[in-house]
Amino acid sequence: MQIFDALDISSSGLSAQRRKLTAIASNLANVDTTRTDEGGPYKRRRVVMLEAPKMTKFSTMLDQDMNWKDAEKLCSDWGGHFALKGILSVEDAKRAVDIGCTGIVVSNHGGRQLDGARSPFDQLADIVEVVGDRVDVICEGGIQRGTHMLKALSLGAKACAGGRLYLYALAAAGQVGVEKALSIYKTELERDMKLMGCKKISDLSTNNIKFK
Ligand SMILES: Cc1cc2nc3c(=O)[nH]c(=O)nc-3n(C[C@H](O)[C@H](O)[C@H](O)COP(=O)(O)O)c2cc1C
Repeated sequence: MQIFDALDISSSGLSAQRRKLTAIASNLANVDTTRTDEGGPYKRRRVVMLEAPKMTKFSTMLDQDMNWKDAEKLCSDWGGHFALKGILSVEDAKRAVDIGCTGIVVSNHGGRQLDGARSPFDQLADIVEVVGDRVDVICEGGIQRGTHMLKALSLGAKACAGGRLYLYALAAAGQVGVEKALSIYKTELERDMKLMGCKKISDLSTNNIKFK
């Protein structure tokens, strides 16, 4: 099977694996990432955009009738732990607490649709400062390696979440791919914590972060 063959799970070199995974994902998304002669390796790529009808269809899937009252009702009807995903501002984080959420996912949904959306990493510290003692704050969007998780946890997130971090592996090699991806993250986390001089997650703090 072509997709499976493209991923040599046991091959060495993480960046080589990432390139393969990107190629596989691009293949699945019908995007041509063939290298051109200009710009050297991996600098310039010819990209075929999704045709307009698909983008139009996506827009019709976004329902603007859903509002905070609906979220509050869902939260109270559910009666258990309830996390709202897609929070990117302190105002929305406070509102999520007000309607009874027990968790929020600070997320730009992977930043795949709205060009220019803020990165969750940039918003995290402010949000944690204001609501971090009242809800579990989960960081998501763009997490692809151990250091990304360490940055999010250092900024006060209780946990991290991700989509593509396991989806590419799933598409490429099913369960074994996801297990391999998770083991890579675990190894990276453990090694990077040692390099940072941290023995446990609770050792992580904003002291580990410097914004430019
Ligand atoms: C193929 C795909 C489909 C997705 N569909 C949805 C969706 O229907 N609703 C949603 O809120 N987020 C959706 N997401 C976003 C993910 O739930 C998640 O927020 C995002 O993947 C996190 O960013 P990351 O991929 O950089 O980890 C989708 C992501 C991918 C890759």
